[in-house]
Amino acid sequence: MTGSYSSHGDEATREYFHHSSGQRVNTDIVLVEALRSQYRNLDLVIVPERGTSLLAYASAGHAAITPLEDTVKDPVYGGAIKWRQYIPPSRRLDPSPGLYVEHVVFGKYLYKWKEQELIVYVASGRDGTSSYPEITNQYVLTNDTDKVDELIKEVSLWAQELHNQVWVFDQGFWQKSYELWKSVQKSHWEDVILEEGMKKQIISDVENFFDGQETYQNLKVPWKRGVIYYGPPGNGKTISIKAMMHSLYQRGIDGNKKLSVPTLYVRTLSSFAGPEYSLQAIFNKAREVAPCYLVFEDLDSIVNDSVRSYFLNEVDGLKSNDGILMVGSTNHLDRLDPGISKRPSRFDRKYYFPDPDYDQRVQYAKYWQGKLKDNDTVKFPDDLCPAIAKITDKFSFAYMQEAFIASLLAIAARGKDDDDAQHVAYDDEMQALQRALAQTLGHSNLEDLVLWKEIQKQVKILREEMDEKAQAQNSAMPAPQAPPAPAQTLYQSSQAAGQGSDSIPRRQARSYQDELDAMIHDPLRVSAERLNEALRRFGI
Ligand SMILES: Nc1ncnc2c1ncn2[C@@H]1O[C@H](COP(=O)(O)OP(=O)(O)OP(=O)(O)O)[C@@H](O)[C@H]1O
Ligand SMILES: [Mg+2]
Repeated sequence: MTGSYSSHGDEATREYFHHSSGQRVNTDIVLVEALRSQYRNLDLVIVPERGTSLLAYASAGHAAITPLEDTVKDPVYGGAIKWRQYIPPSRRLDPSPGLYVEHVVFGKYLYKWKEQELIVYVASGRDGTSSYPEITNQYVLTNDTDKVDELIKEVSLWAQELHNQVWVFDQGFWQKSYELWKSVQKSHWEDVILEEGMKKQIISDVENFFDGQETYQNLKVPWKRGVIYYGPPGNGKTISIKAMMHSLYQRGIDGNKKLSVPTLYVRTLSSFAGPEYSLQAIFNKAREVAPCYLVFEDLDSIVNDSVRSYFLNEVDGLKSNDGILMVGSTNHLDRLDPGISKRPSRFDRKYYFPDPDYDQRVQYAKYWQGKLKDNDTVKFPDDLCPAIAKITDKFSFAYMQEAFIASLLAIAARGKDDDDAQHVAYDDEMQALQRALAQTLGHSNLEDLVLWKEIQKQVKILREEMDEKAQAQNSAMPAPQAPPAPAQTLYQSSQAAGQGSDSIPRRQARSYQDELDAMIHDPLRVSAERLNEALRRFGI
């Protein structure tokens, strides 16, 4: 074919067809021939770039790398071929300017690592017409091949480690996610409100597991465990997992001598090769990086009937799962197969995350008070915390959060108007005196507070929404179900201790309501009472 094309007019066309009709190409051999004859007194080691990128390792600061310039520069090819691209910020709202990246197609470098000087050629050798596989090799010229072996080992191990990333399984692949790592850095146990005993237990369960390899070995039991977090939406299952991930990341860094524990986070089993393949890939990776914390969020939707037997096979099949702690979260423990939810040795412990009780709601309001303490425009006195807790009975934390956020947004949107409204009452001398006295006593007049007014409004709206949802669910579901057996004890004990969200009797709730109504509709009476109380206290 080569000689049969006879255009004399266009050099590029002739070159292209000449090139494309070659018999067989192998870039590796072309380069090996050239390099061996050029560097006769050096050894050549060929290192595939995939998984062992010498350039990435150097750009992370572990080696020094300088492009080698030829003394006589080739006017056509120069010393290198690079593709240059601009990568915009990953989100439009991100203020960073983005960055330029270079993809090396062919390049030549002087590589300095641990007193060693190496010459490294990097060459993309995608031969043929298919875009896959993309093969880039690194041709390392050296007088000490043992040192190059050492370098290869170090770079490969470094590439397998996580660098401010979390392993995430999505669409059939394990990928390293910096985004998830970043969001985990903001999750702290101090911000998670749970019954104190349960919180301690949840943390120690995980910490003891990872500290306890020897104990398990001495007891001759497999070093693996599983926990399930379950309960109604919005009560801290996910933030507990994230806080746990965060505290696990503290291990093994900055002088911490404990065994480091990466998290493997499974988003979905759907993949190009089916969920069975995904399960295999998930557990293979977990076994490879163990000890690790393997997270299945929304376990009931991940492990459904069609993959249940594969899942169980991976969990307790022949392969050892030593060092793997699985955590699954679900709103529907009842939808999980009993083989998963009821059989210990798969998921040994279950924790129920109920709606917050009164004290926890006060605590959550205090958490917001702390968040807003530097905000001069929104006044948040201590009295507001129990008041908010009283009107948010049966709210989940997520609903409470929504009440706060919606209120603050409404206040921010109204801006100046509300500032004025807040100050109208100050004009009255009598009220100013009353306020001063109330403050001395540690009380404040809630009725003047913009936040309190707005929160009541938002709580009312959200409660209507909750009632509608509950009605829709009731008409769709045959009969309400009690929490399943293992959780019952926790659930019952919280009821017995008066902690369950249902545990405030109706009569008491009504009296709260009356008290609130009085506070809302009869501010003068409240003020007068407070004033009297103040006068009595001061003996006036
Ligand atoms: N126990 C808690 N303490 C403090 N804040 C909480 C708590 N639970 C929930 N929140 C707040 O509600 C938000 C939602 O909580 P989270 O995502 O953990 O709920 P979840 O239990 O995982 O719900 P789902 O079952 O719908 O996945 C959190 O970001 C947090 O702001
Ligand atoms: Mg969740």
